[in-house]
Amino acid sequence: MGGNSFGEIFRITTFGESHGAGVGVVVDGCPAGLKLCEADVQAELDRRRPGQSRLTTPRSEADSVSILSGVFEGKTTGTPIAMIVHNKDQDSSAYESIKDLARPNHADYTFFMKYGLRDWRGGGRSSGRETVSRVAAGAVAKKLLSQSGVSVIGHTVAVAGIKTGEVSHAGIIGNAEDNPVRCADPDVAAKMEEAILAAKREGDSVGGVVEVIALNVPVGLGEPVFDKLDADLAKAIMSIGAVKGVEIGAGFAVTDRLGSENNDEFIIRDGKVETTSNNSGGILGGISNGMPIVLRAAVKPTSSIAKEQRTIDLSTVEEATIKVGGRHDPCIVPRVLPVCEAMVALVLADHLLRNRASKVW
Ligand SMILES: Cc1cc2nc3c(=O)[nH]c(=O)nc-3n(C[C@H](O)[C@H](O)[C@H](O)COP(=O)(O)O)c2cc1C
Repeated sequence: MGGNSFGEIFRITTFGESHGAGVGVVVDGCPAGLKLCEADVQAELDRRRPGQSRLTTPRSEADSVSILSGVFEGKTTGTPIAMIVHNKDQDSSAYESIKDLARPNHADYTFFMKYGLRDWRGGGRSSGRETVSRVAAGAVAKKLLSQSGVSVIGHTVAVAGIKTGEVSHAGIIGNAEDNPVRCADPDVAAKMEEAILAAKREGDSVGGVVEVIALNVPVGLGEPVFDKLDADLAKAIMSIGAVKGVEIGAGFAVTDRLGSENNDEFIIRDGKVETTSNNSGGILGGISNGMPIVLRAAVKPTSSIAKEQRTIDLSTVEEATIKVGGRHDPCIVPRVLPVCEAMVALVLADHLLRNRASKVW
């Protein structure tokens, strides 16, 4: 299986399965001299891990990270940074009775057809647990970006069709982490929670939308033509399990507008070039324009649900029915958010380093 590495200069390779010994990542190309410790990475992993609230699965994975290499006396050395999280709370028994049944809308059918076998314990590499590695690497990328004043923030903007209105950056930073759905508007958050719990009671699940914003991104990141910043961001986000759509800036809404409505007019504010609106989401011609980078990801309802559904038995290729037991979130949206932030940070860190090679300095 190829495709386990991502990035050009700031390059990560991830490994591990849901119910194997552990999951981890090797970060290659991180510059030397960056202050880094396990607590920096742990803080991000804690935002992704299950068992954080009654809305998420009761799996109590501690997801404790160990940095194996690349850091000496609290600073990166420029050598590969290897990080591992040992799996501790895996219980494969819930999967044993459905090991030959393809969970509808999960990766069981396609993995089996492609490889002729599959690790049925928790979905193996197709599990959401694979994203532990991305979040660990993303924590390093976030630290590197912070050296240049760049920060990556995020919030949940929709769950089960319940949407937030306009929220300021300060509102996102101040409020999004205060409730289990990571919605910056507490009243809307309460409605989202109700919808999730209602789906859970029915043995069902719901999806939603997260928004990620990168602030203080310098002008110039992105490599036309195939490695445009928006193209790389879209790939990064679409590579996350359960993400079915990505919008940059105004996204699909641009199709209903006149050019005069959609154009972001240039102005000078406090001596700095800005635009009056940000429908392009901070990217023009595949290159960051200095405005906040704004993207949204559509997250599907968790496919593993307790309701009975029709499927096939992979061993006999006969029709069957399935009820997925085990511990699954009725809504993974709040847990996908830190993963999206991590992927955005990885793309920006990589392009920040690539940009240094773009002209004579
Ligand atoms: C953080 C995270 C947690 C996830 N947790 C679950 C889960 O508990 N149950 C489940 O069925 N899918 C879960 N998923 C989604 C599956 O990994 C995903 O649907 C599956 O790999 C199929 O890929 P696709 O949805 O992109 O087609 C999770 C995804 C992420 C990113």
